[in-house]
Amino acid sequence: MLNKIGLIGGGYIGGVLLQEIVKRRLAREVGMSDPAPFVNPNDPPEQQATQAKQSVAKGKALDIAEGTPTIRSDVRCYGSKDYSAIEGAELIINTAGVPRKARPDGTFPTREELLTINLKVTNDVAKGIQKYCPDAIILSIANPLDAIVYTLNKRLNPAKSRLFGMAGQLDSGRYCYFVAEAAKVSVENVSAMVLGGHGDDMVPVRSSCQVGGIPVEKFLDEATLAAIESRTRKAGGEVVGLLGFGSAFASPAWAALEMAEAVIFDKRKIIPVCALLEGEYGVNGLYVGVPAIVGKNGVEEVIEMDLTAAEKAAFDHSVGAVRKTCDEVDGMLAKL
Ligand code: LAC
Repeated sequence: MLNKIGLIGGGYIGGVLLQEIVKRRLAREVGMSDPAPFVNPNDPPEQQATQAKQSVAKGKALDIAEGTPTIRSDVRCYGSKDYSAIEGAELIINTAGVPRKARPDGTFPTREELLTINLKVTNDVAKGIQKYCPDAIILSIANPLDAIVYTLNKRLNPAKSRLFGMAGQLDSGRYCYFVAEAAKVSVENVSAMVLGGHGDDMVPVRSSCQVGGIPVEKFLDEATLAAIESRTRKAGGEVVGLLGFGSAFASPAWAALEMAEAVIFDKRKIIPVCALLEGEYGVNGLYVGVPAIVGKNGVEEVIEMDLTAAEKAAFDHSVGAVRKTCDEVDGMLAKL
């Protein structure tokens, strides 16, 4: 158990995280910060005064705190409109930023198209972490995933092990779910990794996919697997299209908690995470999804797995897309 976990962002993912941390008793206390609702200077003064008193973070935290006697959890939880609620946190989970959302015509933006707005948010997030918990391990979920983790590194420059992003566990979960469904077996029987950037070029690694320890090809034919891998790459968008109001939130929160628990309980668990590469997989200076041992220090070790030639080519292509977005980050940060 940690002393304190800090949550930045009180949206749908933040809400699930808060509930689960309190239910699973992962820390003695958990603080959530979110500036919403924003005070609009164009609104009448009385309305501005009301908005200034309202707080999504305080409201969600109070709701959950009032449920703790029922679920018998003594985890203290509270929220703030500024960053003060994350003070002293040993682990930060960052979800701050706007999610993808379907437009009225049913189309929706790519994760990369969220960069301009979410980069500004991330710049403030970095200042909040710097002020209130500069030594925390940082686990980031906001999109575009790899570029936001890269931005946090540019602003905070923490030790390599102490900053990582959540995407691979979510994407791998989706891959495993589709395989289990098609093979008509328990999800517990399927293991697989999805690597590379968290965009539509992500790489479901078929050579890592096993059903009950047996290669997946024994259970599913080529056409079925190709269709599953294509669906996996676009699975986030599939949920965005169905929900209408935003993007997936339960499975991303659970995936982040899988990583958080590996840190909290020093599990040294191999999980696909977005980690800094310094030569591994032939990549330097970018945060990309790769398998890593996750333990009390965060990313304890990046694992270089053998990929087939086609998988390596797909990985390099995905890294190219991450590099392009990070080049944009460099240009934008210079102007902030
Ligand atoms: C997804 C978002 C959270 O993949 O990136 O659902």
